[in-house]
Amino acid sequence: MIKILGTGSYVPEKVLTNFDLEKTLDTSNEWIIKRTGIKERRIAAPEESTVSFSVNAAKKALAAAGVSAEDVDLLILTTSTADYQISSSAPIIANELGCRKIPAFDLNAVCAGFVYGFGVATGFLESGMYKNCLLIGADTYSRILNWKNRNSCILFGDGAGAVFMKKEEGASNILSYDYCSDGRGSAHIRIPAGGSKIPYHSSENIAEDDLYFQMDGKKVYEFTIKEIPACVERLLEKANISSADLDAVVFHQANIRIIDTVAKDCEIPIEKFFINIQKYGNTSSASVPLALDEAVREGKIKSGDKILMLGFGGGLSWGGIILEW
Ligand code: COA
Repeated sequence: MIKILGTGSYVPEKVLTNFDLEKTLDTSNEWIIKRTGIKERRIAAPEESTVSFSVNAAKKALAAAGVSAEDVDLLILTTSTADYQISSSAPIIANELGCRKIPAFDLNAVCAGFVYGFGVATGFLESGMYKNCLLIGADTYSRILNWKNRNSCILFGDGAGAVFMKKEEGASNILSYDYCSDGRGSAHIRIPAGGSKIPYHSSENIAEDDLYFQMDGKKVYEFTIKEIPACVERLLEKANISSADLDAVVFHQANIRIIDTVAKDCEIPIEKFFINIQKYGNTSSASVPLALDEAVREGKIKSGDKILMLGFGGGLSWGGIILEW
């Protein structure tokens, strides 16, 4: 069985409220709260980045698990805002933490990253390839957002979350998993330029906005309210349990309206959802582990609880896991 022995998280100190955004954008606190549930988000200090966030969150997860960096066998960072295009950030994090020469790599499934990473880590551990894994979800969207674009910049914030997972003796406690993608919706969430198709140096004609994060909010919203309840239903069916059997839901914090819709459609009492979107907005890969860490530290998750973790976003990609804690 896969045990999560410790969780940790980190958010930068700087708070950016909706009222702050009112000063630079044609928006309002009332509009943002009503459409998203977000009141404020955290923004990286100039010297901070995805690596420094990750190191801070990982140290807390290791301390909570009562292990040292030298004990870590495998490190996975899920992010879509690594410090550099090349090389990957996970080895830098492993080095800064003081890990041995362990396997360490980045995984990018955008906002579904942590939940994808959890599946990958589980596979490595269940197969016996490695005994434990430090899994980190971290993102610094403040660096890729166009702060003049009110359609997207109001939604996101920066942060990191981490878990230390270990394989222990006993029957599998992963009750179900369900992963999906649909590349037809790839353009609904993307940064058009800067990749191998349109490199930064390819043309003088790259539109300024193409260097920043872009999202068709309406299309993404429509996709989520169609696909995510269906994904939850499949997870429950595969686990052979009903929604009443779930003890807690740790869901991607993208929009409170999406959470409300899923709760209603899947008949899961909203009280079972751990919600912190009002404080942090959408922190992409950090969203699920940041919520998980707060839920654990607030004593909302106990041994034996059935927990649903679910993420979705760019790709389009989505996925979830039900596990017994
Ligand atoms: N402040 C004020 N008005 C805004 C605004 C803002 N920040 N952003 C958009 N508007 C305006 C629009 O221009 C539009 O004006 P119009 O009617 O004059 O054209 C109006 O508000 C409604 O816009 P619309 O896009 O229909 O709003 P919405 O109800 O769909 O809410 C989102 C927009 C982005 C909040 C919503 O679509 C959403 O949450 N989508 C999913 C996004 C998401 O979760 N992404 C991450 C996935 S990982």
